[in-house]
Amino acid sequence: MVNRKLRLLPVLILNTALVVITCVGITLTVRPVQAAEPSQKTEQYCLSCHNDPNLSMTLPDGEKLSLYISPDKLAKSVHSPLGIECEACHTEITTYPHPKIDYQNKRELSRSYYLTCKKCHPANYEKTLDSMHAKAAEAGNLNAPVCTDCHGTHDVQSPDKPRTRVSTTCGQCHSDIYQQYKSSVHGNALIQEDNPDVPVCTDCHGVHNIQDPRTALFRVETPELCAGCHANEKLMSKYGLPANVYDIYKLSWHGVDVSVYQARWPTIWHTSAVCTDCHGVHNIRRTDDPASTVYPGNLLATCQKCHPSVSPNWVGAWTGHNEISLEHTPFVFYTQAFYTYFTPLVLWLSILYVVLQIIRSIVNRARRSLQ
Ligand code: HEC
Ligand code: HEC
Ligand code: HEC
Ligand code: HEC
Ligand code: HEC
Ligand code: HEC
Ligand code: HEC
Ligand code: HEC
Ligand code: HEC
Repeated sequence: MVNRKLRLLPVLILNTALVVITCVGITLTVRPVQAAEPSQKTEQYCLSCHNDPNLSMTLPDGEKLSLYISPDKLAKSVHSPLGIECEACHTEITTYPHPKIDYQNKRELSRSYYLTCKKCHPANYEKTLDSMHAKAAEAGNLNAPVCTDCHGTHDVQSPDKPRTRVSTTCGQCHSDIYQQYKSSVHGNALIQEDNPDVPVCTDCHGVHNIQDPRTALFRVETPELCAGCHANEKLMSKYGLPANVYDIYKLSWHGVDVSVYQARWPTIWHTSAVCTDCHGVHNIRRTDDPASTVYPGNLLATCQKCHPSVSPNWVGAWTGHNEISLEHTPFVFYTQAFYTYFTPLVLWLSILYVVLQIIRSIVNRARRSLQ
């Protein structure tokens, strides 16, 4: 009997352990559901007043603020379905009457309440502090965007789905640039075909830490920005475009000049041409589009921005992105071929001449001594 009991002991311990583990497991799996319950109640509680489309208040500056929170919008936001509800953001407001407000108008409300996003997205918040938008705000331009201007508030959606949303978000305020971009080769492909290979605003500018794109540093780094895609053989072959434009540019006068500045004086403004000086920035077009700045009929004017006195012949002699070839640049091809073969030929003939002279003088001297 005792023996059997002893033999059962490990089984008993094992069973008890299993029961404990299962209980802990159940508690753990149940926990989020339990936590979600009061927050659902908070949403219901707040919405019991805020689901009234006519609820509004007049702000101290005289602006009227609608206090209606649409339950439909909430349901479509990324947060509400995750159980992130009113009290997660409005930490100061738990019941009615609410605490006294400390803003005068709608813009002050936005610039004060958006700080709540920092709580759960601290990394993005830190990045925005270093951005051009934050600098504009510091300089007094309070229209510079905060999180909620780009993402919305109670209706936050995935910011890059569909991908066109990224550019329309920036386009809300930068509407002139958006219009140019829309008709460019990149923007057109994005908007018409939802093409994932072309750049949106944030591919060139970054997102939360947007820097000033008009600095000397940004300028000398432009070729690498474009090369990120235009030197990618696999990507470019999809569109029948050459992937060597960057390499050939780097060997050109402009490219070499820009590389030197990039390596030595990246913060000194330099005018040697980068990709965007010839192709445009937000209005880049296919090279065979008559509106392109590099279309044959417009090319002279494009070069003349920096080379004011040059003639069509000068521009015609330029090899562009083409490797020197009989097909594209016959004149340069023949000139190069001429020098490739003529210069060594002259050199070898001179050497031969000198050698023959030496032999001749040795032979002459030998003859003289024999006489
Ligand atoms: C009993 C109705 C009622 C309930 C419940 C209620 N509110 Fe309000 N809320 C109002 C009214 C009325 C105003 C207009 C300003 C005022 O009277 O304080 C308002 C104003 C606001 C404002 C704008 C003013 C401010 O404080 O910045 C916010 C934000 C707000 N409510 C959030 C909430 C949240 C979050 C909840 C849930 C925790 C909630 N409300 C619950 C009635 C209500
Ligand atoms: C993800 C964070 C977040 C959640 C969740 C949230 N709010 Fe807000 N709420 C804000 C921010 C930020 C503002 C300031 C909006 C602005 O810039 O106009 C705001 C503004 C408001 C206002 C003022 C009117 C307005 O639209 O600007 C009311 C009222 C309000 N919230 C009520 C609610 C209620 C009720 C809920 C829950 C159903 C809720 N909020 C959930 C962040 C949140
Ligand atoms: C209580 C925490 C919390 C607060 C406060 C909060 N968020 Fe979120 N947010 C989340 C979580 C969790 C997710 C989903 C996980 C993720 O994608 O990071 C999310 C997702 C997002 C997304 C979608 C990300 C994607 O890739 O689809 C955006 C945009 C966003 N939040 C913006 C905001 C903004 C703007 C505010 C302030 C108005 C805010 N959040 C406040 C927790 C929070
Ligand atoms: C100038 C507009 C703008 C501002 C301001 C902005 N965002 Fe974004 N955010 C975007 C865009 C556009 C994307 C999508 C980026 C992409 O896919 O290229 C994004 C992506 C995100 C994402 C998902 C990707 C990730 O990085 O996790 C979150 C979360 C987010 N933002 C939160 C915030 C928060 C929080 C703030 C404020 C501190 C903020 N954003 C300020 C435009 C903005
Ligand atoms: C709510 C309006 C708003 C939105 C949305 C917005 N911006 Fe801006 N942006 C501004 C303002 C205002 C300035 C500062 C302009 C100034 O001070 O001259 C600015 C400045 C800039 C600058 C610096 C150049 C300059 O003119 O000062 C760049 C680059 C920029 N924004 C890019 C973007 C991109 C990319 C997006 C989308 C991810 C975006 N912006 C979304 C309002 C906005
Ligand atoms: C292919 C890369 C690229 C894309 C895509 C792009 N930009 Fe730019 N952007 C640049 C460059 C390069 C400059 C600097 C141009 C210069 O020298 O003036 C610039 C300049 C700017 C400026 C400041 C100078 C000005 O002209 O006012 C703003 C604001 C701006 N871009 C916003 C946007 C917005 C908004 C989008 C999307 C609709 C966008 N950019 C798309 C490369 C790009
Ligand atoms: C994110 C990748 C990407 C970046 C960055 C990018 N491009 Fe493009 N670009 C493309 C793709 C893809 C196409 C082809 C689009 C099509 O044909 O629909 C294209 C097309 C072009 C064309 C038209 C070629 C033709 O004649 O058909 C020019 C010119 C061009 N890009 C110049 C630039 C310049 C200059 C920059 C830098 C300021 C740049 N691109 C940055 C992806 C990119
Ligand atoms: C000095 C002016 C100039 C500069 C700088 C310049 N391009 Fe070009 N680009 C042209 C001209 C002109 C053409 C059309 C004729 C040709 O293909 O040579 C062209 C053609 C192109 C094409 C289309 C090629 C094809 O065969 O369809 C692409 C893509 C391109 N450039 C990208 C770039 C990129 C990326 C840079 C920077 C690394 C750059 N360009 C710098 C003038 C320039
Ligand atoms: C943004 C200004 C800019 C644009 C646009 C530009 N260049 Fe230049 N280019 C320069 C600078 C600066 C130099 C260097 C001059 C020096 O060092 O003396 C240079 C040098 C040259 C040189 C070699 C030196 C010389 O003067 O002969 C050639 C060739 C040339 N560019 C051709 C062109 C052609 C062709 C175009 C139009 C397709 C063009 N450039 C457009 C700024 C530009």
